[in-house]
Amino acid sequence: QLMRKKLIAGNWKMHGSRVANEILVRSLLAEPALEPSVELVVLVPAPYLAQMQQLLGDSACAWGGQDVSDQERGAFTGEVAASMLREFGCRYTVVGHSERRQRHGETDVQVAAKAQQALSQDLIPILCLGESLEQREAGKTAQVMRHQLGVLLDVLGEAGMVRSVLAYEPVWAIGTGRSATPAQVQEVHAWLRQQCAEVSPGLAENIQILYGGSVKGANAVELMALPDVDGALVGGASLVAQEFLAIARAAA
Ligand code: G3P
Repeated sequence: QLMRKKLIAGNWKMHGSRVANEILVRSLLAEPALEPSVELVVLVPAPYLAQMQQLLGDSACAWGGQDVSDQERGAFTGEVAASMLREFGCRYTVVGHSERRQRHGETDVQVAAKAQQALSQDLIPILCLGESLEQREAGKTAQVMRHQLGVLLDVLGEAGMVRSVLAYEPVWAIGTGRSATPAQVQEVHAWLRQQCAEVSPGLAENIQILYGGSVKGANAVELMALPDVDGALVGGASLVAQEFLAIARAAA
């Protein structure tokens, strides 16, 4: 575990404006350097990537996109290519967020293809997975996750997975203010790591597994202390500099 750095990722979703972004980012930069064991990243709407490149430049805070096309280039109106994210300095991109799976019908296979595009441009995909409330209540959590993860493992292989980050986001905990309990989080994270171990012990040891779903300053300490949690994918609380920084400090 000592080898794994903590990653605190702020998924702004469809929030922000040039003015608000600048205020938020300047507050993040004003924070005295965090422990070298924690990395910060903001995941912003595509139109603001150039602004992030300008404001964050060579700071310790990385930036990235919230989605990426599964195609390299061409007649795909509205989509953003991995090479474009790369051109604007992104280090990461979210892939397969449940809001895209639900609203845009993204399948496990498409999510894996998006991750491959990201990897082809040396972007680190943050691969989101997680069960819905209905699936959890039906006792299908393991089955759903096995399929979501299985496709990723098959398509990306060990070589792709070692260059990726996993994010467990139970759909019922997203934006609800109701985080999964530490016991629930640890159980799923340990299971995910175990599945990775079946591919390779090295992968299991090194892959960062983030938790997402109503993470805030107040619950971050106990969540970030869990042995198989390597950081957080933060929605709402990432829009408030002091909350986001409190989460980062909890991970340090
Ligand atoms: O990607 C992060 C996210 O889905 C969690 O959102 O607002 O519950 O922190 P939130």
